[in-house]
Amino acid sequence: MSKSKQKARKHTFRPAHKSVEDLMPYQTGKPIEELAREKGLDRIVKLASNENPLGSSPAAKDAVARMLDDLGRYPDGGGFYLKEAISESLDVAEEMIVLGNGSNEILELLAQLLLADNDETVYAWPAFIVYRLATMAHGAVGIEVPLDGDLKHDLPAMAGSITERTKLVFISNPNNPTGTFVKTGELVNFLDGLPPSVLPVLDEAYFEYARDNADFPDGVSLLKEGRNLVVMRTFSKAYGLAGLRVGYALMPQQLVQLVNRVRQPFNVNSVAQAAAAAAVSDVDFLEKTLELNRTEMERLEARIRSLGFNTVPSAANFILIDLAGLPGGEIFEGLQDKGVIVRAMDAYGLPEYIRVTVGLPEENDFFLKALAEIKKEKRGNPK
Ligand SMILES: Cc1ncc(COP(=O)(O)O)c(C=O)c1O
Repeated sequence: MSKSKQKARKHTFRPAHKSVEDLMPYQTGKPIEELAREKGLDRIVKLASNENPLGSSPAAKDAVARMLDDLGRYPDGGGFYLKEAISESLDVAEEMIVLGNGSNEILELLAQLLLADNDETVYAWPAFIVYRLATMAHGAVGIEVPLDGDLKHDLPAMAGSITERTKLVFISNPNNPTGTFVKTGELVNFLDGLPPSVLPVLDEAYFEYARDNADFPDGVSLLKEGRNLVVMRTFSKAYGLAGLRVGYALMPQQLVQLVNRVRQPFNVNSVAQAAAAAAVSDVDFLEKTLELNRTEMERLEARIRSLGFNTVPSAANFILIDLAGLPGGEIFEGLQDKGVIVRAMDAYGLPEYIRVTVGLPEENDFFLKALAEIKKEKRGNPK
């Protein structure tokens, strides 16, 4: 084939959905080791992805070790033992459970199943960016409803954005990146007002951290009341298994059967299934995780405020910091130069904020020291 013909062929890729052309791929950071090498640093503290600073449950690690002799086999496509463990711990029928390669995959599966070109989804903004990605990947239009003045979901405005084209509504509770949450009464009111053609998806990725707050809704109880609802949870956060990619959703059985038609048969790998099943019953590890988060969240918030910044009250394992006018992108870069990785918020439309995950005490101290130094460099006004 002539060179000019080869060249002409190069430009013929066209996504099936036009919206994919406007989609910005999810931004992931560099590997920690690479960053350390590039910056010439010997310590890097990563507080960027809301992971569990304690790592994973010892029971989960033992389960992983036991799986190593079985790696030659495909996983159980039905997720028998993991569904059994989830079903027992939440008292829900196994037939109502879908397992996912992270709860992220379940968002994708729902979008794949329910969205066609020009359909609409409704979600708050800023919220978890994958609602936008999954919507656009399937040709649909995301109606992004700004959070209210307290950076909480504006449920009345979201209800007002529903049209006959709306197929899915995503509610991140608590919300990422703000840590704010909608209360039981508000949520029930909102759900009760939705037309039956709209499927609400309650994303409870941070449920375990938030569940003890007064008025925090339990999606599983709402589902058990017979509501048309999807409740998503994950093993990536409080259960400390982010690297294995495993999450789940609970939903009406009829919907499970439809999702199973578009789900890859072996979407959750065998090691992840075994680890997650063991993690469900490791109550000690979960309690330790929650206790660490409680005490360190309180300490971090107080220290951040004493530096002259504001914090958004968080029910999760991260804090959104209002930098009081300092540019978030520059603070993010400055922290990275000192070996601390947090999350810049420009892509979320919050250029004067950063989000930091609650880490181990020494990691949080390292972050606080770096933040104080940067503030001094920027403002010349240490506290
Ligand atoms: C609100 C929210 N939902 C879902 C997820 C996806 O989690 P995973 O795919 O690891 O289960 C995250 C991860 O950060 C999140 O913050």
